[in-house]
Amino acid sequence: MVEARIGTVTLLFTDLERSTEILQKLGDDEAQVLWRTHFSLLRNAVSARGGQEVKNLGDGLMVVFSSALDALACAVAMQQAVHRHNEQQEEGHRLQVRVGLHVGEPIREEDDYFGMAVVVAKRLCDRAQGGQILVSDLVRRLVGSRGSYTFRDLGPLSLKGTAEPLSAYEVVWEPAAEELAAPLPPHVEGPAAPLPLPPLLAIGERTTFVGREAELERLRHHWERVRTGQRQLVLLTGEPGIGKTRLAAEFALAAHAEGATVLFGRSDEAAALPYQPFVEALRHYVATCSPNELRARLRATGAELTGLVPELAQRLSDLPAPPPVEPERGRYRLYEAFTTFLAEASQVSPIVLVLDDLHLADRSTLLLLKHIVRSPGQSPLLLLGTYREIEIARTHPLAETLADLRRDRAFERVSLQGLDKGNVGALIGAWAGQEAPPALIEAVHELTEGNPFFIEEVLRHLVETG
Ligand SMILES: Nc1ncnc2c1ncn2[C@@H]1O[C@H](COP(=O)(O)OP(=O)(O)OP(=O)(O)O)[C@@H](O)[C@H]1O
Ligand SMILES: [Mg+2]
Repeated sequence: MVEARIGTVTLLFTDLERSTEILQKLGDDEAQVLWRTHFSLLRNAVSARGGQEVKNLGDGLMVVFSSALDALACAVAMQQAVHRHNEQQEEGHRLQVRVGLHVGEPIREEDDYFGMAVVVAKRLCDRAQGGQILVSDLVRRLVGSRGSYTFRDLGPLSLKGTAEPLSAYEVVWEPAAEELAAPLPPHVEGPAAPLPLPPLLAIGERTTFVGREAELERLRHHWERVRTGQRQLVLLTGEPGIGKTRLAAEFALAAHAEGATVLFGRSDEAAALPYQPFVEALRHYVATCSPNELRARLRATGAELTGLVPELAQRLSDLPAPPPVEPERGRYRLYEAFTTFLAEASQVSPIVLVLDDLHLADRSTLLLLKHIVRSPGQSPLLLLGTYREIEIARTHPLAETLADLRRDRAFERVSLQGLDKGNVGALIGAWAGQEAPPALIEAVHELTEGNPFFIEEVLRHLVETG
């Protein structure tokens, strides 16, 4: 018997999204070059973190690490390397890589590994979208607070081939600071390059987007006002899965293409951090803005904002320490600092700040939101929030905030309904790659009431059961 237990290891799988499509589009020779680049980007990250490549899976790698922290650092380095590659490439040459990590005690046989731990790591990778890193709860706990990674709770996922749902997390990563911090050549004057999209919005090829013309029209109307310098707050509401986040993302993508700065922050159940969505938004700004620009925009507020985003102190080493103040005044100063930061940053290009899942926002987030919305002075800023209508009872903190803001007529709510039959048909057609029969459209429409999340579930089920 050659099989042996080898103790605990962290398993990392990668997979290149849409690989067949890339191959078809580029043809053999060009695809070959791209494949080689893809593997060399990944392998550089593996060797920098002391990983051991177990095998090449054709479209990805299987790697083991003796440390979960190294494995996670490797996963992030892989995504950052791919991101850097993509920034220098044209559309057809961009890569989107999924990564999954799990830790366990697999069985080793010759040079390969077997067992449930391997299956789980692979399945997590399969469940990721291009640009995402998914890890099991075990990996998250082993890594702990080391490396200050942000983990997003995805809840229990049922993975193919595993008996019980598994607690999974997405690791939020940012493009590497060095590459993005590259200062503009000194002789170039004029507008700063637009900031890259936040990773959660930049995620590769997405499914076809259908309908929502009227809602997009409302958003464009507000955007026109924003562009003339008026701050706007728009809230997208509706039931779970109706398409709030997707609509916000589609709009933000279009605004980004026009040169807007797009920032994104999400609230989640764990609400691990006060001001979480604002922290995420600022963190992206700090990570991707050039040092000169950062210094100019945060001259007045940087010292205050290091409390929210400590990386700021590393990027701007000459920031003064914030003066000590009593806590109550400190909070007010923080609100003021954040509001000033947004006003400053929006002078470069108008800002879309997406605040996703506000029904999960904690009180600190809502207070800061209210402060920004009520602050005097105007700036080209669109605050685009989303929340699940049904989660908001009258006594919910968000309901109270909205009641306050309603008195000031400070926001517009855009309520999303199910897709109509035409759009359900378009969605099914896009999935199937051919026109859907009317009876199928009718049935799916009736079953799902046009909820795109349910439509996708139904289609996935149909595909899986043939
Ligand atoms: N108009 C659309 N066209 C195509 N796909 C859509 C559309 N709207 C939503 N989807 C897809 O449906 C799924 C659910 O959408 P989304 O996540 O935006 O819902 P949500 O309202 O934000 O849900 P939750 O309340 O859970 O956050 C996603 O996979 C999304 O890409
Ligand atoms: Mg959502």
